[in-house]
Amino acid sequence: MAAEEITARVLTLSKLKELFVEQLQDVYWIEIKLVQLLRRLKETVTSGQLADAFSEHREETKEQVRRLEDIFEGIGEPVVASKCTAMEGIMDEADYILYTTDEGSSQRDAGLIIAMQKAEHYEMAIYRSLVQLAETLGYAEAKIALEFTLGEEKAADRQLTQIAKSRIYAAALNEENNAN
Ligand SMILES: [Fe+2]
Ligand SMILES: [Fe+2]
Repeated sequence: MAAEEITARVLTLSKLKELFVEQLQDVYWIEIKLVQLLRRLKETVTSGQLADAFSEHREETKEQVRRLEDIFEGIGEPVVASKCTAMEGIMDEADYILYTTDEGSSQRDAGLIIAMQKAEHYEMAIYRSLVQLAETLGYAEAKIALEFTLGEEKAADRQLTQIAKSRIYAAALNEENNAN
């Protein structure tokens, strides 16, 4: 490889690394905020099954925060959280559900499932990109850690679908029927 080509490749990689780090900073902010949000949500839902699901995913999310800190360290970058406005909007939706639904209602549970599935899908999109970026940049350890977290996000999303299907949407439908 000619010197010029090598320089060009290093430049490309460093720009790609810049993107990788920016996405890491975004998702680090997201995970910290989700730990806080899930604490509030698990206390406000009616279904014990849903409260357990939020509680379990909160514990996983705390580990995801630590995992990201290890990744920053592994690639020699400072641990930085950068506000993600897209996820902030999704989190605002969860708050909107809290303001517009009654405590103790299945409608609230259903609304929070919808909001949190949006959050899980957004996380999945970021982690999928991060896994690919880590592979391209040759960060083998980071790739494994990011894949692990991606698996947790997918499982959390599947669990919410199961809970919604098994009871909560039907219970919310009955609430509506009773009101009419
Ligand atoms: Fe997460
Ligand atoms: Fe998640």
